[in-house]
Amino acid sequence: MPDALLLILKLFTLSLDIQKIRNDFPILNQQIYNKPLVYFDNGATTQKPQVVIDEEVKIYSKENSNIHRGVHYLSEQLTQRHEDARKVVQKFINAQHDHEVIFTGGTTESINTIAFSFGEKYINEGDEIIISTLEHHANIVPWQMLCERKKAVLKVIPINEKGELLLDEYQKLISAKTKIVAVNQVSNALGTVNDIKKIIDLAHQNKIPVLIDGAQSVQHGEVDVQDLDCDFYVFSGHKVYGPNGIGVLYGKEKWLNEMPPYMTGGEMIKKVTFEKTTFNELPFKFEAGTPNYVSAIALATAINYIQELGLENIAAYEKELLEYGTEKLGSIEGLRIIGTAENKVSVISFNLDNIHHYDAGMVIDKMGIAVRTGHHCAEPLMDSLNVEGTIRASFSFYNTKEEIDKLYEAILTVKQMFS
Ligand code: ALA
Repeated sequence: MPDALLLILKLFTLSLDIQKIRNDFPILNQQIYNKPLVYFDNGATTQKPQVVIDEEVKIYSKENSNIHRGVHYLSEQLTQRHEDARKVVQKFINAQHDHEVIFTGGTTESINTIAFSFGEKYINEGDEIIISTLEHHANIVPWQMLCERKKAVLKVIPINEKGELLLDEYQKLISAKTKIVAVNQVSNALGTVNDIKKIIDLAHQNKIPVLIDGAQSVQHGEVDVQDLDCDFYVFSGHKVYGPNGIGVLYGKEKWLNEMPPYMTGGEMIKKVTFEKTTFNELPFKFEAGTPNYVSAIALATAINYIQELGLENIAAYEKELLEYGTEKLGSIEGLRIIGTAENKVSVISFNLDNIHHYDAGMVIDKMGIAVRTGHHCAEPLMDSLNVEGTIRASFSFYNTKEEIDKLYEAILTVKQMFS
């Protein structure tokens, strides 16, 4: 790497005070099996800074009231805070309008909403939907079920041995029958960062809308939905240092206006009679029932928190952890890293020769280190890689190189135990 680049990287890194940051996360300061917790399961869920925990406590202690429904003080105040939270998300992903931001229960609910609603309106017999081999089950099954309902066809972009999408093959899959493309920006199982700009451009050249699953990307770097020009972008609160049970569905206004609602009930209506119901305007048309306003507001707090750290700083530091971890773990004999894409986030998936990933994971756990083992809700990907599962270490900006050293030692112990 050129010296100037190294210097810039160092400057970025210096701007994150990791010890100070770690103090913001109370859960990190504890012992598991009498050993300091090393939390490397950030791909599954991220831990919460104290400000997010405090936000929820404050709302339930002093501010709680159902929103959009009351003329009383508490309801009006909290309604305002909820709509301000929507604006925070709008700015976070640079959506053009705040009403293009729909709050959902998470990425899974967001994708199901789009698959159902878009599918109802636009998918007919013989139509084609393109996904990729790298998808999480949440971005496979809703499309598969839609295809079954509508007698449509699911097409899958293949990968190379590094775990990168084959974009030439993707281009060949696009046809006059293709109605939507749905791919992730980052693979949860391997950490591959996909060239979604190119994927979107190719689809748009053929007037095909694109949904991007951002569940594993918004926490690792800046996202600009207008620059990407994606038609839909979805992510979860709990993976971006916010609460569970809240997620985001971004959609371009023109699609959301045309698509029918998914869930129906209170709040999403304009007028209900026993004969006919008319629907509310965006975003409320897609937010039936009492919204999860507490988590939406706390999600905004989490977003503000990581924006204060700086997404660029986070990306630079996590890249350093990835490079360090790849070299360190990669030096272990019999350890095979699964997923060696040129462009990756801070995820290292690996297997150990002749040792089952569950056995390894259980021993690693006894050393106070949390990793995920298994197929990572990406069974078709595992099949295509000819593995049953992997051990996955996913790093966050609150992790350290010393913690990676502990994982290294733990893996050596696993090897010794099973040799
Ligand atoms: N989708 C989450 C993961 O990759 C749960 O672990």
